[in-house]
Amino acid sequence: MTTDNQLHVAIVMDGNGRWAVARGLPRVAGHRQGAQVVHDIVAAAPGLGVTALTIFAFSTENWKRPADEVSYILHLFVAMVTKWLPELVSQHVRVRVIGDRGALPPDVRASVETIESRTASCDGLHLNVALNYGGRAEILHAAQAFAADCAAGKASPSDLTEDRFDSYLWLRGEPAPDIVIRTAGELRVSNFLLWEMAYAELFFLDVLWPDFSAATLESVLQEFRSRHRRFGGS
Ligand code: FPP
Repeated sequence: MTTDNQLHVAIVMDGNGRWAVARGLPRVAGHRQGAQVVHDIVAAAPGLGVTALTIFAFSTENWKRPADEVSYILHLFVAMVTKWLPELVSQHVRVRVIGDRGALPPDVRASVETIESRTASCDGLHLNVALNYGGRAEILHAAQAFAADCAAGKASPSDLTEDRFDSYLWLRGEPAPDIVIRTAGELRVSNFLLWEMAYAELFFLDVLWPDFSAATLESVLQEFRSRHRRFGGS
């Protein structure tokens, strides 16, 4: 459940390729600029009242892209976050990766574990990075883990509540997102946080991710505060 002093923003960072192509640059230049925007948004988010930020960096469907682009995105993420680590620690940012890490290249997986352990005791912004993530895969994984606990006698089907199911998700422990933003104009959720976004306020922006800024986030937050959230009530 979301409480008054917590604000969880989730973002589908779309439009990197279009940003690069419009400038006559290779698509990966868009991802590089997109990573810089992540850096700036992480720095700005706590000052805007954001307590958790969940970003979609690589989906289970992104493996369909050319192998060199896939490798570039995965290594860009770990290289940039590893470079930012001292700054992230000084900003008290706790980084967690959600997704199926079994299929990640071993060097990426090892860097992810280092990043998580170096920031594990940070008590500021929660930065959750979805890497090899799919919403359906997350739900299936949780269902399998619960079924395994039932088979082992550690749980019983009648114990299953929404809160209990939450505890099996990759994003466990985080309040549900209040806001889900998708950049670059597409009106889709693309398998992102399917369970968690049940009551999120959705924002579809025409801005490409590399052009997103703290000012863009601030204007979303301003509109969010003017929306009336009913959570199914009247
Ligand atoms: C979508 O744009 C973007 C991605 C699939 C990758 C997002 C990755 C980053 C921003 C870098 C991650 C790094 C850190 C530090 C978190 P697209 O390529 O689908 O754009 P298009 O729709 O215009 O082609």
